[in-house]
Amino acid sequence: MIHKIKIVPDNLEINVEDNTDLLTAISKSGLRIRASCGGKGICGKCKVIIKDGKYVTKNTHLLTESEKKRGYVLACQTKVIDNLLVEIPLQYEEVFTPAEKTKRFSERTEEEVFTFCPLVKKIFVKLEKPSLSNTTADFERLVHKLEMSVEIDLDLLYGLEKVLRDANWSVTVTLADYNIYSKIIRIEPGDTTRNNYGIALDIGTTTVAIYLVDLNTGKILDAKVSYNKQIAFGEDVITRMMYAQEENGLDKLNIAIKETINDLIDNVAKEENILLSDIYAIQCAGNTTMTHMFLNIPPHNMRVLKNTLCRRYFNNSKFYLYPHNFVKCIYGGTNQCP
Ligand code: FES
Repeated sequence: MIHKIKIVPDNLEINVEDNTDLLTAISKSGLRIRASCGGKGICGKCKVIIKDGKYVTKNTHLLTESEKKRGYVLACQTKVIDNLLVEIPLQYEEVFTPAEKTKRFSERTEEEVFTFCPLVKKIFVKLEKPSLSNTTADFERLVHKLEMSVEIDLDLLYGLEKVLRDANWSVTVTLADYNIYSKIIRIEPGDTTRNNYGIALDIGTTTVAIYLVDLNTGKILDAKVSYNKQIAFGEDVITRMMYAQEENGLDKLNIAIKETINDLIDNVAKEENILLSDIYAIQCAGNTTMTHMFLNIPPHNMRVLKNTLCRRYFNNSKFYLYPHNFVKCIYGGTNQCP
């Protein structure tokens, strides 16, 4: 049996065989959507919205309840069994020319363009206690309950046995999005899902701004701004790059920006009456020079060779945060390079 799939907003129509997976069907139309895991159902990047028609899809934790209600599915985990009307959200399409992208952004409302997609999410689970008839290992027991493949660092794994037993097998797991897999960054006793905050951070050469975001709702709760303490070492990026080449220069610049950020986080947490330990993630943006100094990466090659070292994720950033908190950086455009 053949089914017709209409894809919006591109207004493409294709015919596919019954039971074709939606990822394959969409690629037949010539459109490409993000599919980092190659269709294994573990990256959560191939999200599309089914506006009309019947389909069969596998249950997944990679979609929030609100997304499921709005018709979101993972294309690779969905079979076509009817004529469908499918919308591909802009952020899940793979490649556009800048002109196409600008046009498509301008055609949509902010809510349509920016789907709420937090860096971390918290899941409360109640595990079955081990018994003579169920001797599954602790970590596998947890993974089985989460119903997804996850990674965990060894130092968190060391504490798993105690936290599970102390919490009577009811724990909240915090998962960070590492693109093609999720990583457990914290396991807490009881249900702490309500307390889930993140910081959106904008590091400017002159000023630094932070936004405190409720990661359960996407709501911005507060914002703070202050001067970048690196100003003491030079007002512009060239002067600071040169200072970074002096003895201990880069370390001083790195400490200055971290102090600036920590002071802001401290203030916002106090004012909003939240615990620093309930801030689970930082999304950081800044020009390329600022981002290098924030990561303590020598920026001199950028000045001499216009060459940068790109690192997207890092932890243990010595903020006032739990060691496993998740920090992600977005580099500014190369127009910030001298
Ligand atoms: S391609 Fe569908 S989840 Fe990764």
